[in-house]
Amino acid sequence: MEVKSTKELHSELAMHSVRFAKDEQGRRKGQDVLFKWPEIEKKLGEHKHIYVVDARLGSNNHTHRLWYDVIPPHAEEGQDWRTLGHRHTVEAIIYFLKGHGHSIIDGERYDWGPGDLLSVPMFSWHRHINDGDEPVLRIASTTGPLSLALGQAVYEDERYPEFWIYAQEGEDARKTLIPGGGGKIDNGKIAGSRTAEMYAEQVAFAMHEEQLRRKSKVLVKQKDLVFEPTAMGSLAYVVDPRIGCHSKALGVVMAEIPPGKRSGAHRHLYDEIDLIVSGKGEVIVEDKEFDFDTLDVLSIPVFQWHQYFNTGSEPLRILGINTRLAMDNLGLSLTHQGEHADYV
Ligand SMILES: [Fe+2]
Ligand SMILES: [Fe+2]
Repeated sequence: MEVKSTKELHSELAMHSVRFAKDEQGRRKGQDVLFKWPEIEKKLGEHKHIYVVDARLGSNNHTHRLWYDVIPPHAEEGQDWRTLGHRHTVEAIIYFLKGHGHSIIDGERYDWGPGDLLSVPMFSWHRHINDGDEPVLRIASTTGPLSLALGQAVYEDERYPEFWIYAQEGEDARKTLIPGGGGKIDNGKIAGSRTAEMYAEQVAFAMHEEQLRRKSKVLVKQKDLVFEPTAMGSLAYVVDPRIGCHSKALGVVMAEIPPGKRSGAHRHLYDEIDLIVSGKGEVIVEDKEFDFDTLDVLSIPVFQWHQYFNTGSEPLRILGINTRLAMDNLGLSLTHQGEHADYV
C-alpha cells in the first residue's frame, strides 16, 4: 500500500474541503429527479415497504428520505406491532393516499383517511392500524439521514428489544419523549449568578422540549388546509412551526395549480421531495424537463431552479416535503424567487 507523507496527506485533506462544493454541484446535476408510480407500484407488489428517494439508493439527498408503504385490510398492524409500536429521534410525516384507519401516538388515538397527514412528535411511540376493507396506501418522509449523520439516530422498536437503548430502563424511560430522560437543577447557594442561570437553562432544555413536543399539532386533516395566493402560486402550509407544529427540521406545504397554469419559479438551499397528489404536469428543473402524473415522486436537487406546469384537465396538487427548517436552524436557508405564478 502506498504510504503518503504527512505533507501529502494533510494537503489532500485541506483540498477535500476546498473542492467539495464544486463536486457537490456535479452530484446535484447528476441526481435522479423523477420516480414514476408504475415502477413503485410494481415493487410494492413484491414488498409492502419501498424506499423511493434515499441516499442509500443513490439519491443525493443528505437530509431526508421518502418511502411508500401498504398496510393490508384489517391488519392489526402493518408492521406487526401490538403494544408500543416504535419511536425514533428523527422527525417524520405520513401522508395517507388511500384507505382508512387510526394511529396511536404517545397514547392518543388519531383517525385518518385519504388526504390526511400525521406529523409524529419526536421520540413518541406510534402504531398505525388499517380499519377498512381496502389496503392503506401511504407515503412517509423522515429526517433519518440527518439524524444518522449526526450520530443521534435512536430507533426503538417493540419487535427488537435487544436494540433498545433506553426503553428497557422502566416505565419512566418508556413514557418520556427525551432519550435518557430530561433533568433540571436547583442552583441553591449559587443562585443569582447569570452564568449559573444560563447553565440551569441548558440543563432544563430537554424537559421544555418535551412539553413543546406534547403540545405539537399531530393530525392535519385535508379539509383544514388553508390555501392562499403566493408568488409561487396557491399554497397551504401543512407542517410548519408558525401554524402550531413543533418541527425543527421537516416542513410540508401543499401547492395547487389550476389546469393550463404554471407555478412560480424558485431555487433554495434545502432538500425537497414532492409527491404528486392529483393531476398531471411538467416540471422544469434547471435545463431539464420532466412529465409527471399522479402518485409520481420528484426529488428536487438543492439550489436548482424549478417550476411546475399543469398540463392536465384537473387541478394539480403537489405535496412538497422539505428540510428548510433544519437549514433555518443552521443559518443556511436561502430562497430565490424567479418568475411569479400566472394565476394568483
Ligand atoms: Fe415511525
Ligand atoms: Fe421548491
